[in-house]
Amino acid sequence: MSPTSPKHLPADIRLIRHGAGRLRLLCRLSQLKRLLDDHSFWAVGRSPQQLGRMILASQAVVSAWRGGDLVGFGRATSDGVYRAVLWDVVVDGQLQGLGIGRRLMEALLECPAVAGAERIYLMTTNSEGFYEKLGFRHVQEQRLMLLEGITATDISGSSVQRGHG
Ligand SMILES: CC(C)(COP(=O)(O)OP(=O)(O)OC[C@H]1O[C@@H](n2cnc3c(N)ncnc32)[C@H](O)[C@@H]1OP(=O)(O)O)[C@@H](O)C(=O)NCCC(=O)NCCS
Repeated sequence: MSPTSPKHLPADIRLIRHGAGRLRLLCRLSQLKRLLDDHSFWAVGRSPQQLGRMILASQAVVSAWRGGDLVGFGRATSDGVYRAVLWDVVVDGQLQGLGIGRRLMEALLECPAVAGAERIYLMTTNSEGFYEKLGFRHVQEQRLMLLEGITATDISGSSVQRGHG
């Protein structure tokens, strides 16, 4: 992991761009669970085990800390070339409006897996204005589509063969 040094971050807040190990977060999954349970509406009730898998399967992970307390988080999945998607950007409610979300986003956008992608997508319900300030634009010409609850078991009967390439 490598601390970043953004401008205008409150003095007692430290941002971390996590390396492949993500050990600091993996050792504090209960804190991540609490942050998401208390300050997001879409990621409530995730188990620490699921969160650990989620972190390891993400290509970019950034967190914000005040002392030993996790106060912000964001992550991205990416193929590193064409498409990256940002997920789970959240700041502790008591610290919102201080510039932490912006710095978290800037650190996420600087991660090689995200910076290298041709297009960066995200989904938002109520924070469009926040992302617009970072250069994102509302997309008129595309529709968000959703398929919920599909599991590996559901598709195990598929006729698609596992490749060896
Ligand atoms: C959205 C969120 C991450 C923003 O973090 P933050 O630390 O409060 O944001 P910042 O203080 O860095 O704000 C940066 C700018 O965006 C603006 N902004 C922040 N949240 C906004 C929102 N929801 N809508 C519109 N503008 C917003 C701020 O006013 C600020 O503007 P300025 O640069 O002109 O002063 C945070 O409010 C949050 O965690 N909300 C709950 C979870 C959530 O909804 N996350 C988004 C999921 S898609």
